[in-house]
Amino acid sequence: MRALLLGSGGRESALAWALHGSSSVDDLVVAPGNPGIARIARTAGVDPTDARSVVKLASEIDADLVVIGPEAPLVAGVGDALRAEGRSVFGPSASAARIEGSKTFAKDLMDRTGIPTARWGAFTDVHKAVAFMDELGPPYVTKADGLAAGKGVVVTPERGAALEAIQECLVHGKFGASGRSVVVEEFLSGEEVSLIALTDGETVRACEPAQDYKRALEDDRGPNTGGMGSYSPVPMCPEGLAQSVADEVIEPMVRATCAAAGPFIGAIYAGLVLTSQGAKVLEFNARFGDPETQALVPRLISDFGEVCMACAHGRLSEIELEWRADKCVSIVLAAGGYPGGYAKGIEITGVEAAARCEGVQIFHAGTATQDGKLVTNGGRVLNVSALGATFEQARSRAYEAAALIHFEGKRMRSDIALKAEKLERAEAQ
Ligand code: AMP
Ligand code: GLY
Repeated sequence: MRALLLGSGGRESALAWALHGSSSVDDLVVAPGNPGIARIARTAGVDPTDARSVVKLASEIDADLVVIGPEAPLVAGVGDALRAEGRSVFGPSASAARIEGSKTFAKDLMDRTGIPTARWGAFTDVHKAVAFMDELGPPYVTKADGLAAGKGVVVTPERGAALEAIQECLVHGKFGASGRSVVVEEFLSGEEVSLIALTDGETVRACEPAQDYKRALEDDRGPNTGGMGSYSPVPMCPEGLAQSVADEVIEPMVRATCAAAGPFIGAIYAGLVLTSQGAKVLEFNARFGDPETQALVPRLISDFGEVCMACAHGRLSEIELEWRADKCVSIVLAAGGYPGGYAKGIEITGVEAAARCEGVQIFHAGTATQDGKLVTNGGRVLNVSALGATFEQARSRAYEAAALIHFEGKRMRSDIALKAEKLERAEAQ
């Protein structure tokens, strides 16, 4: 089949690699892609959120399947426009993608469906928001209702900081329309796990659990980022948890979303907290996680193109997902200064040497080509993923490969999957 993939980040690099490795895919085009993707696929300089241009490109290449990576094209209705033209699409409709685009929409559905989640309220009035916040007590959690590029969430033990966050949304309009309404919710305490499932709107197939690292610095200190690394599987996850969450949380959510907003086809991401009262949902996303996908895809044995096609055609019940027992660890190499301001256009060397290391895959995220050289072009520059029989082996392979890559200001967290490795070692004793 001819497949078209939309997006240009680390997640899309991993998805492109999986599609490229699928025996069912003989031609792959990625829009817009990046220099890493360009090594394994044709790239097209088309804005993935511009529905007309994407429909035109899909028609030009006569795509049998379109896989949508990021949320922005979903929310912009690109999936709907493609389906209206008769294309097979892996990615939900704009209205179903509201499980990610609107926290109120998602929370309402969770409550109606009895899905365990943090107590919450949505407010446009500062006084009412603060009264509810005081009722819940610290630590405080406030969120801009709409998409805010991962920057709309504040979790703080300090009442003053929470108050400021509410005022920034409702009074100062910091997040524009996305922050016109504020969600205040109960703080959930426990291990965070990402569970991504694939669905054709009926059948739900869970991927293996993964965990990401949101904070910039070791020991989960420093500001939130788009993700500094990930690993899979998650040894802290009790046996059978993925299946029970898929059956009791994700499947009901897919059904409720389909009933409220039309077919949900694609990846659904449940951000979970393993609380003392069981798994509770922090959030749903309407797409694969970034950077979780970079640690999941190397473990997938099944033909990814065929799985996506089965989702698009309502045939997922015919397919089981198969995974390697190997562990996968994925490290993000970030630009100096990220998640604050950072420079672009800095030369990167050593990627080829790193890619030759055993078990290692390099996924580009924020890179570009300038005068024939590979340069940085974003905050998160590269993902170094490595498979290993143990977390210890996967970690040492990933860190050895990461050490071969150089660019001025390069930084990474040194503790990605360290707790998994420690648990593994303790269990072996
Ligand atoms: P989000 O942008 O919604 O993914 O939230 C970013 C991060 O904030 C999450 O990964 C959690 O670590 C934290 N967070 C969000 N909501 C809560 C909550 N209700 N309780 C505890 N931590 C939370
Ligand atoms: N890793 C978090 C996300 O993709 O939203």
